[in-house]
Amino acid sequence: MTVLEARNLPRHVAIIMDGNGRWAELQGRPRTAGHRAGSDAVRRIVRLARRLGVEQLTLYAFSEQNWGRPQDEVEALMALLHEFLLSEREEILSNAIHLRAVGSVERLPQPVREVLEPLSQRSAPGARMVLSLALSYGGREEIAAAARTLARKVARGQLSPEDVTEELLAAHIPSVAYGEPDLIIRTGGEFRISNFLLWGSAYAELFFSPTLWPDFAAEDLFQAISAYQRRERRFGLVPSVASNGHGAHANGSSALVETQACPTSPSDS
Ligand code: IPE
Ligand code: IPE
Ligand code: MG
Repeated sequence: MTVLEARNLPRHVAIIMDGNGRWAELQGRPRTAGHRAGSDAVRRIVRLARRLGVEQLTLYAFSEQNWGRPQDEVEALMALLHEFLLSEREEILSNAIHLRAVGSVERLPQPVREVLEPLSQRSAPGARMVLSLALSYGGREEIAAAARTLARKVARGQLSPEDVTEELLAAHIPSVAYGEPDLIIRTGGEFRISNFLLWGSAYAELFFSPTLWPDFAAEDLFQAISAYQRRERRFGLVPSVASNGHGAHANGSSALVETQACPTSPSDS
């Protein structure tokens, strides 16, 4: 059992959910079987993060570049996304989760948008956790879109080039609208960012897990958080200065989180 410190939980955890295809291949099944098992892992991890008290969970579900995959795989992924949104709708609403999408949502099929948009609007008030799904998402595309928005304002004379500060640009980057990620996990054994949260990852702690996403379980998340808690975040400063400002996150009165007391299936709750 991994024991976590309740006082130093990452506020914002972001996950590159990778390895569905390899998981299926290892079982001699089609890649889409891996994506289906991957969507079950999403359900488990959302529940767990909510119980742990993580304030924000950002999940990389589909990249801009993933549109280039074979058409049947893209269609299967969109169908699974649709199914996921329909099946989780009530749970999201009843658990004070604000679901939102970041990415080029306009590229998603109409049936997906028809569920996503109203759910995103209805789930907003008083949320305990913000669940951001990165859908048709690219970190470079997101920064380019922010630059275009500001460039338009400059062209209209609403803004001068000197006003384009780091803070203003950040304010136009939806993936950090509620704060930068503290911890970015990539599953599936690859050591790369693959165009995820390029702006927000500047000072995130990175954790690479060999576990293929469909197998990613509570213990894998606990290990990632535990590793995060052993890191020293410095933000370019020296230790004594850094620890006064960023980092430590007091969101619990007890010193430790008993990870065994964090069920992940509805029957446990
Ligand atoms: C992640 O799994 C899911 C998406 C990118 C949509 P992959 O489909 O990339 O799985 P691998 O990397 O081929 O195993
Ligand atoms: C990143 O995984 C995208 C998602 C997890 C949605 P990919 O499988 O697409 O990334 P690469 O191809 O390994 O870089
Ligand atoms: Mg992959």
